Amino acid sequence: MSNIEESTAITRRGALCALSLVTVGIFLSPETATAATGVKILPSGKVRVTLKSNPALKKVGGVVRIDDVDGRSIALVRTSAKAYAAVNLLCTHQGGELVQTGNQWQCQTHQATFTLAGKNLVGPASKALKQLPVKATASMVTIG
Ligand code: FES
Repeated sequence: MSNIEESTAITRRGALCALSLVTVGIFLSPETATAATGVKILPSGKVRVTLKSNPALKKVGGVVRIDDVDGRSIALVRTSAKAYAAVNLLCTHQGGELVQTGNQWQCQTHQATFTLAGKNLVGPASKALKQLPVKATASMVTIG
C-alpha cells in the first residue's frame, strides 16, 4: 500500500470511528436538564426563577430542573416565546423518579415517558404530570 493509499485508509477509518461514536452518543447518552440557578423560594412557598440566570430558557423547548423544593423536584420548560410550563417531576403512576432523556422525561421505576411539558406518552402511567401555576414576566418566572 502506498503512502497515499495508507493515508486515505486511515482517514476513512477515522471518519467511520468518529461517526460511530457520534451515533452511539446521540442514541445512548441521556441528557440531563440543567439545574436552575437564580432560584428563590418566596415566603409564600412560590418559586421565583430569574431568566437571565438560566440561558437554557432562552429558546423554546429549553428546560431547567429545580430540585429540593419542599422535597420535590420541578421542571420549568419554555413552551413558546412568552409561555412557560412547570411540572412536578413525580411519576403519576406510582411516584417514580423522572430523569430527562432527550426531549422526554422517563420514569426510572417502570419506564413511563412524558413530554418535557408533562404530557403522558407511554404507560404504565396514564395521566400527565402535575402542572403547577406559572406567571411569567420578561425577567422572571414565578411557579406556584
Ligand atoms: S412509577 Fe413511573 S411508571 Fe410506574
